[in-house]
Amino acid sequence: MKVIQQPLLIQKELIALKNTGKRIGLIPTMGNLHKGHLSLFQLAQSNCDVLVGSIFVNPMQFGANEDLDKYPRTLENDIKKLTELGVDYLFTPTEEIIYPIGTKTNTSVEVNRLTSRLCGYSRPEHFRGVATVVNILFNILQPDVVVFGKKDYQQYLILSAMVKDLFLPIEIIGGDIVREENGLAMSSRNKFLTEQQKEEASSLRKILLNSAKEIEDGILNFERIKQRAIEQLKRRKFKVDYLEICNKTTLEDANKEDKELLIACAAWLGKPRLLDNIEVSI
Ligand code: PAF
Repeated sequence: MKVIQQPLLIQKELIALKNTGKRIGLIPTMGNLHKGHLSLFQLAQSNCDVLVGSIFVNPMQFGANEDLDKYPRTLENDIKKLTELGVDYLFTPTEEIIYPIGTKTNTSVEVNRLTSRLCGYSRPEHFRGVATVVNILFNILQPDVVVFGKKDYQQYLILSAMVKDLFLPIEIIGGDIVREENGLAMSSRNKFLTEQQKEEASSLRKILLNSAKEIEDGILNFERIKQRAIEQLKRRKFKVDYLEICNKTTLEDANKEDKELLIACAAWLGKPRLLDNIEVSI
């Protein structure tokens, strides 16, 4: 695997490969790779000829009180994992390369509507940072296909909308959530849970599954299902940021005519804010 820090260097190599007809696949990450990330690389592998990863902890998507400094950085280990997987290129730019004048850039990318819901309630600036850095990465690496994990379902939806709205010639694929044995969605932030909290955290999945079952069984009082799930989470010591039952495409509150729904939740358990969701078809 070639590890390259300089944008123009990796761009030149990838364009040369594109010109020979190769299809470039990209997985953008912030590193600290776990099985969830690796499954995205595997999914991309069967959809491209040249597999590219990027590792960049993007300061623009962290709020003032968030955990930018504490975000785990494990580059050496990550390189080992990606090499074993057969990844061809890894792009590892520095902050100075991506944001030469700092994160108050002249240009940023803002996706509307979808960004104001769910995580947008408590992280209003977050998705501007994500959309901006992902655009920068797309422009440097010029991928044909990109895989985003559906644990961050809203992010996947926003970036799919951005690609469509801006006519970017890129195919976006959503990768399924990978879970621990107890059901907890894999995340770099799980490192901040104690062993006991890891067990307790598994109830988030169970509560979402119960809510999904109620809907599948024909109970369409979404507000009641939602309030009951929030109560159950609070009883298990979660501090709930949001739990929403929404239309899977618009993220608007679900109504009785909707057939494709998403139950999405963000909640703190101790230090980390955990995300999970479940797609429900009626
Ligand atoms: O999901 C992530 O790890 C990040 O939000 C992303 C897409 C790499 C942008 O920094």
